Amino acid sequence: MNTLDQIDIRNQRVLIRTDLNVPIQDGTVTSDARIQAALPTIRQAMDSGAAVLVMSHLGRPTEGAPEAEFSLAPVAARLTELLGCPVELVQDWIDGVEIAPGEVKLLENVRFLKGEKANDEALAARIAALCDVFVMDAFAAAHRAHASTEGLARRLPAYAGRTMQAELEALEKALTTPKRPVMAVVGGAKVSSKIDLLANLVKKVDTLVIGGGMANTFLAAKGVDVGKSLCEHDLADTARMIMAAAEKAGCEIVQPADAVVAKEFKAGADNETVALDAIPADGMILDVGPASIAKVNEKIDQAATLVWNGPLGAFEIAPFDKATVAAAQHAAERTKQGKLNSVAGGGDTVAALNHANAGSAFSYVSTAGGAFLEWLEGKELPGVKALEA
Ligand code: 3PG
Ligand code: MG
Repeated sequence: MNTLDQIDIRNQRVLIRTDLNVPIQDGTVTSDARIQAALPTIRQAMDSGAAVLVMSHLGRPTEGAPEAEFSLAPVAARLTELLGCPVELVQDWIDGVEIAPGEVKLLENVRFLKGEKANDEALAARIAALCDVFVMDAFAAAHRAHASTEGLARRLPAYAGRTMQAELEALEKALTTPKRPVMAVVGGAKVSSKIDLLANLVKKVDTLVIGGGMANTFLAAKGVDVGKSLCEHDLADTARMIMAAAEKAGCEIVQPADAVVAKEFKAGADNETVALDAIPADGMILDVGPASIAKVNEKIDQAATLVWNGPLGAFEIAPFDKATVAAAQHAAERTKQGKLNSVAGGGDTVAALNHANAGSAFSYVSTAGGAFLEWLEGKELPGVKALEA
């Protein structure tokens, strides 16, 4: 894969595809992690004397016409602050953009264009005409074979940006060539959304901790009465299949040893910690208890590598954030001591780690949601594959 180290981009028009699909509330960016991650590549391209066009999608607008709700304007404002120079947002850019070397401009949401999501060849050709060099830095959108990701990489001299490089290096170090023992923590609500991920991970890791609502499906499959807990009873066979695959591969699955149950799903709900054979018929498991936390932390102590995706309990509502916070902080501590390579990503995970004040201590926190999951599923990401070609 070619990187910015392989090319002199002075006086070249460089188009950088980033993932600036960030949360926005009332016109303000509420988490700028993805904008921060885009800075090194943008800065390097500007400093190298390139004319820099930054491209991204935002949300899922109806294609064909701009919609104010999905404008990148708040992102342009934040990018201006972070770069310390004005970043103009270009509305109508498809027919050409005036830009000088050393300058940077942000192109309005590429998903406003018809053909972007269908990876339309004619659209990709028109975008390609805007620049000399394509830099793909949107790892978080690399699972999409869109015109601005896969399409451009195929038709222009294409290079991986710094975030793309960092994401792939971190993931490969954690799962392709990990220091062992390697463990994974997988949580979240549903088994159904993570079947491929679990099936791939049991072949790769030594220990797999299953938490969150999806652990209930595994407990039920083993005959535990989980009361009114979130549980996909129809996936009992799938859970048993994953457990059998784990056993065959020599992967130890760590399931909850006790449960924190409540009668309602709400912050501060009355709750009790019970053994697995004592879950009340009208109770819901909202977190794992101290015995489970001790077990997870013991596994973290034994591990050299940790891959984390998904919370262990309903971390959004206190006090059911306890296990997630305790384990995340323990992993952060081991990482600070230099004993653990910890990589996290995907959906709620980053929010959960930040809630625990643990994210910044992890070795690497991915900017990606769906792309991180697909990578863990062992799938080829089209936006990465096109760079390798
Ligand atoms: C994400 O947030 O997962 C990426 O930006 C991709 O967005 P999408 O799921 O709308 O393609
Ligand atoms: Mg997504």
